Amino acid sequence: MNKGNDIRKKYLDFMAKNGHAVIPSSALVPENDPTTLFTGSGMQPLVPYLMGETHPKGTKLTDSQKCFRAEDIEEVGDNRHTTFFEMLGNWSLGDYFKQEQLPWFYSFLTDEVGLNPENIYVTTFIGDEKANVPKDTEAVDIWKKLFTEKGISAGVAEMGSEEEGGERGMNEGERIFYYDASKNWWTRAGKIQNMPVGEIGGPDSEVFYDFGTPHDTKFGKHCHPNCDCGRFLEIGNSVFMEYIKTENGFEKLPKQNVDFGGGLERIAAAAIEENDMFKVDLLWNVVEKIQTLSGKKYEDNLVAFRVVTDHVRGATFMIGDGILPSNTEQGYFVRRLLRRAVRYADMIGVPEGMFSDLAEAVIQTYKGHYTNLKDKEEEIKQTITQEEAQFRKTLENGLKQFNKISLQVHVNTKIVDGKKVLDKESTVTKKAISAQNAFDLFTTYGFPIELTEEIAEEKGLIVDKDGFEKLMEEHREKSRAGAEQKFKGGLADHSETVVQYHTSTHLLLAALRHFLGDHVHQAGSNITGERLRFDFTHPEKIERETLDKIEAWVNKAIQTGGKVTIDMMSKDTAEKDPTVEGSFWDRYPDEVKVYTVKGNDGTVFSRELCGGPHVEALENISGTFKIKKEESSSAGVRRIKAVLES
Ligand code: ALA
Repeated sequence: MNKGNDIRKKYLDFMAKNGHAVIPSSALVPENDPTTLFTGSGMQPLVPYLMGETHPKGTKLTDSQKCFRAEDIEEVGDNRHTTFFEMLGNWSLGDYFKQEQLPWFYSFLTDEVGLNPENIYVTTFIGDEKANVPKDTEAVDIWKKLFTEKGISAGVAEMGSEEEGGERGMNEGERIFYYDASKNWWTRAGKIQNMPVGEIGGPDSEVFYDFGTPHDTKFGKHCHPNCDCGRFLEIGNSVFMEYIKTENGFEKLPKQNVDFGGGLERIAAAAIEENDMFKVDLLWNVVEKIQTLSGKKYEDNLVAFRVVTDHVRGATFMIGDGILPSNTEQGYFVRRLLRRAVRYADMIGVPEGMFSDLAEAVIQTYKGHYTNLKDKEEEIKQTITQEEAQFRKTLENGLKQFNKISLQVHVNTKIVDGKKVLDKESTVTKKAISAQNAFDLFTTYGFPIELTEEIAEEKGLIVDKDGFEKLMEEHREKSRAGAEQKFKGGLADHSETVVQYHTSTHLLLAALRHFLGDHVHQAGSNITGERLRFDFTHPEKIERETLDKIEAWVNKAIQTGGKVTIDMMSKDTAEKDPTVEGSFWDRYPDEVKVYTVKGNDGTVFSRELCGGPHVEALENISGTFKIKKEESSSAGVRRIKAVLES
């Protein structure tokens, strides 16, 4: 039996039995969402519906969503961080609420997966006066009842923040813990105080699994569910999404939603009682392959095995979703994953040219559920093999760089306990790799510090590792701050401007088809609060004269005014309807939405397959549509950048 695949199936079946429609995972690259490069949680593709749009599949949905968190690349190596993961999800779009959600998840964990309820601990929201959101006693009452029914002690404790939890610790019999908004409030913006106007969020209730490992006081005086020492692992989070941030503070949404997300691999780790996610077969199948190829043992090389396993899996799924290695945007991360993986694979002696075998282990493991991996098996393997070979060439150059540095740098060292260490007072001069050099090797050539140290040792050099760690910490802080900034920047405009650009994009495509012909289809779209960028199939440069006509056509439509309406229909019907324009049909579910832009004078401007969201009326688009640039994007594909100028 394959535990990971089995638990995914059990979950979807269980939710279906409880009235949920099973929807397919969206792609790893979100469509029409400028706020983020990757789908990082199950709810992301469902935001328009959580905000009130009608979903064609109804008000109760479930899926297992492929997720990728680029910010975790450098965290991989411990027992629980991975860049790629699957989030099991279920949603109530104004349908059920806490009374159904918590018992379902509890029953799934204990009755279906068979987790020992003694090892399950939960947290709930303590309330927030400033936000005017009350303490979640309702969730606590539900949990008390659920635990008591199974004969489990269900004491309740008030913790507050993570630090306060560490000071207080847990007493015998306590099972349900109140924490503040830093722990039990969920929003895409991360923190409650970062939520921009228009963003949704709510109190949540998390479930933790206790692996019973000893507490590590490095993480606080005492252990508690939100302690990071590794004893407790969060395996699921039910968000009671019922608030929206407005100019006047928090207000209730018209409908109460549930947004549940649970880590598939984490639940599977709990099911096999292994405090190491890489022991779950979804990952272990790859680990075993690496053991065979390298002749090394996982237990002796934890970090390298985990990095290779995680990164090859992530790259395989990315390429499966059509993201090829490149130096920009999403493709850059595929490249980075594969390069890091090659470095670490070399450290444990995986022979050259074996990456396609590792990718195959991933495909074999997942192909039953993610059939696109099977369909694209050859393309994935070829891409990975090519990237590996190309990187090895780059690597040679990196090694040359390495030699240069080692000859240039001189620092002082002394011997302590038989080891060479840096010593500013010492007069001994020794060639070494400085912190900055080690850092540059890491960022430019993808040399992990372990590799730098290894090669340095071979050459009789030392490495300023402490200095390197300091630079890494600064680097991490910068990228963290950058990520928060990017998120805020995108979201601030999300509600209005981006949606206006989105509807303008539909009009642009209609105009392009009107003036250039029916061979024009969408090849890609990227919208921010500042501009739209649209790629489409067309073989040659478009003269400015024609661009002016296209621009005028779009502006005339906007000025005519009109409504945007949504029709739901089966994908089959839509695909056969010649008046419906669409691309990427295979990314859509069986039932689709067709958006029609119809002028007040009755003219149909555009009819297009789409996931939304759009403006309701053309009057909501403000500004004059202007094409700023027309250029080649790739063979047979042109790119237009356009703005709405006020
Ligand atoms: N959206 C929630 C999360 O990602 C369920 O934790």
